[in-house]
Amino acid sequence: MIPVEDLRRTAQGAMSLNIAFIGVANGLFSALYLLQKADVDRLAQQSGMDRGYLERWCDAAYAFGWLERDGALFSLSEDGAAMRPEAENSQMAIAVGAVLSAHMAERAAGLMRTGERPGEKVLAERETILPWFGAMLELNFRSTFENEILPRVGIFQEMNDKSGLAVDLGCGNGWYLRALLGRCRLLQGLGLDGFAENILQATAKAEAEGLSGRLQFAEGDIHQFQLPRPADLIVMNRALHHVWELRGTLFDRLHRELNPGGAVVIWEPAWPEDVGILRQPEYRGMAFQNVTEHVQGNHFLRPPEISAALEASGFQSELYPVGSDVVVVGRRPV
Ligand SMILES: C[S@@+](CC[C@H](N)C(=O)[O-])C[C@H]1O[C@@H](n2cnc3c(N)ncnc32)[C@H](O)[C@@H]1O
Repeated sequence: MIPVEDLRRTAQGAMSLNIAFIGVANGLFSALYLLQKADVDRLAQQSGMDRGYLERWCDAAYAFGWLERDGALFSLSEDGAAMRPEAENSQMAIAVGAVLSAHMAERAAGLMRTGERPGEKVLAERETILPWFGAMLELNFRSTFENEILPRVGIFQEMNDKSGLAVDLGCGNGWYLRALLGRCRLLQGLGLDGFAENILQATAKAEAEGLSGRLQFAEGDIHQFQLPRPADLIVMNRALHHVWELRGTLFDRLHRELNPGGAVVIWEPAWPEDVGILRQPEYRGMAFQNVTEHVQGNHFLRPPEISAALEASGFQSELYPVGSDVVVVGRRPV
């Protein structure tokens, strides 16, 4: 049995992240960082928030250690400073992920009786979460891409001094292409996503990183898009499971859209053959998310299924395990 004190500590962990999320979503950590020390009135003025809500939030953020207190003055604790979205190694993705998880769990709880699967619109039901989605994924995955995947996966080495077109299908806020083009200086990039908010953020971020001359983004559907010219690389990061039902048509199409020698690079959570492994801490998040994927009409994929589908469309596949994820490269033979 889990001791009741441990259960209570777990519940407090969730509350703590909920309070942090309120601060992230309303720019409170960033505002207090600028002010350094402030009372509730000054913080309300700086952040544009309602004083009554802010007073309660400051007390709770103090209680959970996100803020320090000196009489009526509040300042950020070290942990609070790390919740700023703009902080180096920001931890804000953990708070956003916790509240998103609660929302999706509540939806799954209500849908389980009927079996209804309302689809991906469920993700967009919470207007305070939606704007943080792209940044959350960037914080969760960009450093793994830069430090573990880019150096290890052969096709990226080949792209180092090659000109060509890299396309990201389901690009989110565009972090993948920003990271790739930051390293492969001759590549051009095109990102497509179905959410208009993602395209706005991706375009603004590419401009802020000085990449807008080589990197464009457009709203579009993975099932029906037009490339301006044949691509050398087509990437899908955590997007394939969203469109798995139509994989055959999609992979046939990608094969035709690629230059000979080009490749599809797919990065997905790797659903294990042996579900006994799900008990391990690094797999638990995947087990949870697979419930929420079900609400969206999706499910996670086993790596051999991805390889087999690529091979059925004429690709040669290579698998690269990355923790509980997998990168699958499908090459179009020369
Ligand atoms: C889990 S997110 C991953 C986003 C991004 N690749 C990343 O790594 O941050 C999946 C993305 O696929 C997009 N998506 C799903 N189905 C799509 C479709 N049919 N057409 C275009 N985009 C789609 C969603 O809008 C979402 O941004």
